Amino acid sequence: MTQHLADALPTSTGTQPGWWREAVIYQVYPRSFADSNGDGMGDLEGIRSRLPYLKELGVDAVWLSPFYASPQADAGYDVADYRAIDPMFGTLHDADAVIREAHALDLRIIVDLVPNHCSDQHEWFKQALREGPGTPLRERFHFRPGRGAGGEEPPNDWESIFGGPAWTRVPDGEWYLHLFAPEQPDFNWEHPAVQDEFRSILRFWLDLGADGFRIDVAHGLVKAPGLPDLGRDEQLKLLGNQVLPFFDQDGVHEIYRSWRLVLDEYAGDRIGVAEAWTPSADRTAMYLRPDELHQAFNFHYLNTDWDAEALRGAIDDSLDSMRPVGAPTTWVLSNHDVVRHRTRFGSLERARAAALLMLALPGSAYVYQGEELGLPEVTDLPDEVRQDPSFFKANGQDGLRDGCRVPIPWSGEEAPYGFGTGGSWLPQPAEWAGLSVAAQTGDPASTLELYRAALRIRRAHPALGAGDGVEWLPAPEGVLAFRRGDFVCTANTTDVPVRLPAPGTALLSSTDLAEPDLLPADSTVWWQG
Ligand code: BGC
Ligand code: MG
Repeated sequence: MTQHLADALPTSTGTQPGWWREAVIYQVYPRSFADSNGDGMGDLEGIRSRLPYLKELGVDAVWLSPFYASPQADAGYDVADYRAIDPMFGTLHDADAVIREAHALDLRIIVDLVPNHCSDQHEWFKQALREGPGTPLRERFHFRPGRGAGGEEPPNDWESIFGGPAWTRVPDGEWYLHLFAPEQPDFNWEHPAVQDEFRSILRFWLDLGADGFRIDVAHGLVKAPGLPDLGRDEQLKLLGNQVLPFFDQDGVHEIYRSWRLVLDEYAGDRIGVAEAWTPSADRTAMYLRPDELHQAFNFHYLNTDWDAEALRGAIDDSLDSMRPVGAPTTWVLSNHDVVRHRTRFGSLERARAAALLMLALPGSAYVYQGEELGLPEVTDLPDEVRQDPSFFKANGQDGLRDGCRVPIPWSGEEAPYGFGTGGSWLPQPAEWAGLSVAAQTGDPASTLELYRAALRIRRAHPALGAGDGVEWLPAPEGVLAFRRGDFVCTANTTDVPVRLPAPGTALLSSTDLAEPDLLPADSTVWWQG
């Protein structure tokens, strides 16, 4: 029923400058997307072979989590060589093929840049260790003598986000800073060589055709002068909003201004996307001033419950914060660091409703691989298969990030469900046969077809996509209703049906709409009206 009207809408708005202002960006987690060589680990050739799927899904761009040479102490967020591909994922030739073929399909590619820290196997760090205290390479990291008589205490009281002290002592007695795992030493961003190296890395990937960068821990690069003690006993959370001496320091903005100059040297609207966990949406907006980056993940939205009032607050707050800097608001529900939103919200109905709400909002949206299949978090992984470094540390960052990283099901009745011909690095649940791409394709009630329809309408409908505001309409408690031009979205966040006069003709509904005047429980409906 709902798709006929959508099909009658004009197709494609074309490619305009500022594509990122309304792009739907799909996050591929390379280890878990598609495995071409049967080693149980996803790879670049797997990604290349599945680009047509992403095209058909209807996204505009693909963000690839790291595929660089890495010992994989933090699933590739520990980079040993920023200009090389890890053999587990393929070769530079394969990366080039992914970018070229994506472009041929009119899909953009955003690569993940990890500038806060590298791997302890990075050449600079190895050299710094070899050469000892006081040598120049040590200055590119944060090496310090310890405290206490024999220097046996860490230089300050900071804790790693993965748990345990943020400092590790090396055999010659000095300590180095790592906000994450000990295998991830933090760079010293005051050092000109670090700054130069990253501008050069940006150019390397821009020359290869990358359309932008997702900037890992963008808020962490600059530390407060003197690395002052925190002075409180509190475990740090990457996903938290605390004000901290190593996050969201004003000095980071200088770095992004210099990167923007590099991005702007290249034709074709290349972008920078900040992963910045800051205390407020206004602080996040500072990364998006016109001479800095283009987008930032909206973690305030991701942290909002399935509750009309809270959602409306988060939506208004996000839009209000971005308006003064002229940046698009982004929306995100899931990624490789958080519990999948189907599980967070407690049901598939809510997950589907949340997706339609997100895709109706003005700006750009992020979709994490598998959410279009309605995948739940895998909560019962045996300890021996887990790889999240924080799992092995007490009290660290939730420690349970493996459950959202399980390889996605493509087809077939048995694991690995077309993910590859071998196994899969994390076991997939038996119920996932019914959630595979093949199982859902062509089933109008499936979540995959819901996403496909939503993305098709979003692309075609003049009122959807870019924008910086919504017009709220009166609605009963627990219901959100807003208008954008001749488009209306209603979301019932309660667990009972709610009566509301139909604001127009239904275009798409996350749950079967038996009566147009009765919004089903936990549902979102798109209306033409
Ligand atoms: C990434 C995580 C990673 C951390 C350290 C992030 O925020 O998304 O997956 O563990 O940075 O690089
Ligand atoms: Mg493989």
